[in-house]
Amino acid sequence: MPVLPSFETPRLVLRPRTTADLPDCLTMDRDPEVVRYIDGPWADPAAHRAFVEARITAAYPDGLGYWTVRTRMPEAAFLGWVLLIPLDGTGPEIEIGWRFNRASWGQGYATEAAAPVLAHARDTLGVAPIADIHPDNAASMRVAEKSGDGAIRYAG
Ligand SMILES: CC(C)(COP(=O)(O)OP(=O)(O)OC[C@H]1O[C@@H](n2cnc3c(N)ncnc32)[C@H](O)[C@@H]1OP(=O)(O)O)[C@@H](O)C(=O)NCCC(=O)NCCS
Repeated sequence: MPVLPSFETPRLVLRPRTTADLPDCLTMDRDPEVVRYIDGPWADPAAHRAFVEARITAAYPDGLGYWTVRTRMPEAAFLGWVLLIPLDGTGPEIEIGWRFNRASWGQGYATEAAAPVLAHARDTLGVAPIADIHPDNAASMRVAEKSGDGAIRYAG
């Protein structure tokens, strides 16, 4: 079992993603606006499910993986996820990423959720993650910019 801490922020709870989160993740990815700038097998339901399932059950190095982001109790509504994983699956660079369902956009959730993950990367793992963002993905660029303070580098 990989070692992955949980985090709480004023509005959010981040817990290691599990297969219980699979339906919410698949629903989120089925929104074309959500995956607009991201390559993946979104149009093929079986391949999509297998892809996300494999990512959930993969054995990541300690301290790395995906965190499901939910609102704090009592609602515990699924909002999306933040990742911290080896870049291109192998590293040694570490990638940070985020994906949230459209209904939650524009409320500062991605930036709030990225904060403890970045602190974990810096303080526990001693790494400065890389964000691999499509240049037209202005919202994601803005999250990286707001969160970075020099801590996030860009791929490419
Ligand atoms: C990127 C994403 C996670 C941002 O989530 P979010 O919770 O809305 O992010 P935040 O509210 O913390 O911050 C978004 C910022 O981008 C800005 N923004 C949003 N859309 C924008 C646009 N089209 N152009 C410029 N800025 C934009 C917002 O105004 C905000 O900045 P501000 O606080 O200075 O006003 C969300 O849009 C998403 O899930 N997109 C689809 C998946 C994706 O592309 N993930 C990233 C792959 S690299």
